[in-house]
Amino acid sequence: MGNRKVVWFLVFALTFTLFGLHPERTSAASVTITNGTDWLDTAGNPIHANSGNILQVGSTYYLYGEHAVGGKFDSVNVYTSTDLKNWTFSNAILTKDSATELASSKIERPKVIYNALNNQYVLWAHYENGTDYNLGRVAVATSNTPNGKFTYEGSFRPMNYESRDMTVFVDTDGTGYLVTASRKNGGANDTMAIFKMNASYTGIQSFEGWLFENAYREAPAVVKKGNRYYLFTSQAAGWYPNQGAYATATSMTGPWTALTPYGNPSAFGSQIHDIATITGSNTTSYIYMGDRWNPMNLGEHKHIWLPLTLNDSNGTASLEWYTTWNIDAATGVVTPPALVNHAQGKTATASSTASGSSVSNVNDGNYQTSWVASSNSWPAWWQVDFGAPKDDHRNRHVLVYV
Ligand code: GAL
Repeated sequence: MGNRKVVWFLVFALTFTLFGLHPERTSAASVTITNGTDWLDTAGNPIHANSGNILQVGSTYYLYGEHAVGGKFDSVNVYTSTDLKNWTFSNAILTKDSATELASSKIERPKVIYNALNNQYVLWAHYENGTDYNLGRVAVATSNTPNGKFTYEGSFRPMNYESRDMTVFVDTDGTGYLVTASRKNGGANDTMAIFKMNASYTGIQSFEGWLFENAYREAPAVVKKGNRYYLFTSQAAGWYPNQGAYATATSMTGPWTALTPYGNPSAFGSQIHDIATITGSNTTSYIYMGDRWNPMNLGEHKHIWLPLTLNDSNGTASLEWYTTWNIDAATGVVTPPALVNHAQGKTATASSTASGSSVSNVNDGNYQTSWVASSNSWPAWWQVDFGAPKDDHRNRHVLVYV
């Protein structure tokens, strides 16, 4: 981690966690989503559903995701819930025994979509052999129910283009799309590609164009609000968290805007895998679903779910960090905690400041600015004066050493 990220993380953790968490009271049906902890299913077992998606069928939510053991595909699991917090293991819908080529493989970013034309559920995922990332294929499987055993239909490169991190999206007119990290020029994942699916969503109908040329974007996730499409991506950084960015368009086939960063420079220690749309009786809310991988131990994965704000007026998206927040799946109402950032805008001092940066960058409320010490000499420190004692802590200063 670079100094900037350490500073951001420490200041954020100190300011928000120690000094100002006041969760609001919420209605009975509202549940608390807690980030960065080990999530268990209703039987008390870890929820093994990484990099997947949520599908709503009636009042039931289906959470899909992959489970790898020892770096190889074990299963795509599905869990069910009516409140988005209490998840019951339902089935392993695809396993390493479902097909010969899955016995020693990688299945990443599984997404299940519903095809209203033939009443089928279709699973798409990134497929690789068990040893490297050179195949660059998608895998497809189908089922008549959202949680049945899916029938494996095989793997392929969409129209012979490489395909790695990917997502699928069903538009309001029923058209299915594949958005994927592909290769246009020299490098694996250098440019994203967008394809239209065939009517059964089991194959590709047409190549629709390139996106973000040579930007090396990964982990695509699409959501539509009103007439606007938002496409969220991560950088290509292996399992390490990095700066997320999004683009918008009024058609899936573009033109797409340039990329705008969201969240903080580590996407709050996560990599996006989907945006869930929760349509309640009062409102529709959007949940940012991220994976917090541990690159040293992939088994230690954590789910990071945050309320995502999509602003209709100017087409911007914004993401804030909350350790805990509430959602009522029935009404769709999200209740973030009432946080007080006691440090924001207060007088800050530091051991030194590199030219081009500023001590106030740390507590200016802008995640994209940061303070850098002028030399590598150790220790460097940054301090803020709250101006007055706060009733939730005895000290007047936060001192951060980096
Ligand atoms: C990441 C990608 C993940 C996974 C990983 C393997 O860049 O987003 O989905 O493929 O690389 O190292």
